[in-house]
Amino acid sequence: MSKVIVVIGAQWGDEGKGKIVDLLAERFDIVSRYQGGHNAGHSVYVGERAFVLHLIPSGIIHRGKTCVLGNGMVIDPKAFFEEADRLAAQGLEVTPERVLVSSRAHLILPYHRALDHTSEERLGNERVGTTLRGIGPAYEDKAGRRGIRVADALVPEVLRARIERNLEDANRIIEAYGGQALDVEEVFAETSRLTERLAPFIADTTHFLNRAAREGRSILIEGAQATLLDVDHGTYPFVTSSSTTAGGASIGTGLAPHRITGVLGIVRTYTTRVGEGPFPTEMLEGEAELGQLIRKRGREYGASTGRPRRCGWFDAFATRYAAEINGFTSVALTKLDVLDALDQIKVCTGYRLDGREVESFPAVSQDLRRVEPVYDTLPGWNTSTEGITEMSRLPLNARAYVEYLSRAMDVEIGLVSTGPERDQTILNPGSALDAWLKTQ
Ligand code: IMP
Repeated sequence: MSKVIVVIGAQWGDEGKGKIVDLLAERFDIVSRYQGGHNAGHSVYVGERAFVLHLIPSGIIHRGKTCVLGNGMVIDPKAFFEEADRLAAQGLEVTPERVLVSSRAHLILPYHRALDHTSEERLGNERVGTTLRGIGPAYEDKAGRRGIRVADALVPEVLRARIERNLEDANRIIEAYGGQALDVEEVFAETSRLTERLAPFIADTTHFLNRAAREGRSILIEGAQATLLDVDHGTYPFVTSSSTTAGGASIGTGLAPHRITGVLGIVRTYTTRVGEGPFPTEMLEGEAELGQLIRKRGREYGASTGRPRRCGWFDAFATRYAAEINGFTSVALTKLDVLDALDQIKVCTGYRLDGREVESFPAVSQDLRRVEPVYDTLPGWNTSTEGITEMSRLPLNARAYVEYLSRAMDVEIGLVSTGPERDQTILNPGSALDAWLKTQ
């Protein structure tokens, strides 16, 4: 059976997927995204060079890999070419031979961006804290059956008619909230110009991926955002608008569920969140300084928006929930070295609400705001783990922490990351992840 592995963030995003996908990409023929758009941001460090990827799968950094933007994505053609041009200037090959854009993916157009702004404004204190990239409104149009798919945009009459119809409604909302109405001609002209340039990249990626799987080629399916931002399973309504979890990989690529042979969870040794929404283990008040220390050591600023990320302790209760939904086969534990400076490390093992133990991850975000986390405290190690490449070289307390997290999630730890570089990595021999890295 061909190797088809899905990589998913287990927390609220920014777990360090970029580095792990980059490590794995070498051992796969194809790397595909399946949801989201340029709200995502991966930073991949290769020697002195840093590549920031938003829309294009990390496989682009490796010669000879095919990158797919799957049908479940929402694609802003302007953002696509800004990124493609930037990567090309850094010496990468962003050509139609290497990058395929699904004809079934939906387009993000200028009015989606404008509507994202008005929607956040309307929500006021209840705002989601979106990336303002138009992601939510584009998915609303998709579910509302008025979206414009990549393939539709190639037929000028269809494109114009849909822009006209959609702008009629969008402009009403935009103007009602004091925004500037958009002009049909301008939107049409800009979109046509961009989609004409996009034409050579457009493909039936569902067909391409299924044929590749049948022919035994390996496929790495790269998630964006993360489990707790999933529109169904996340901390609704403070979520993104797509299915970020493993189930979404099938929908967003057109590969049947049984084709997927493994799921890798990316878990960071602590938690962060960008944007609004409940975050039970956030370091607040008495722990604000610790939060700042972690933000500084972990360089915790949004790759897409530059916003400082909110920092908190590891939440084993939430991560166990993520492991359950995604069915993690293996976990890559990232940013161990960021915790080197701490004397003590807390891990949340469960929540209490109104004096009672919470049984399952709360569905209602108001409840999640009120829960009291129950913590275990583990000793820190106060030594540098940066760049360590063998488990046996880790300080005892660091090893104990890694083993503790594995037990808490009930999943093997296949890899521990001890720095941003490719080689700052400990592999766990005999793990499922190790096997994926040893075969093509
Ligand atoms: P949207 O995806 O722009 O609609 O934003 C919805 C929520 O998801 C906000 O809280 C964002 O901060 C969050 N979000 C979106 N993309 C990412 C990401 O790549 N990493 C972390 N959070 C994200």
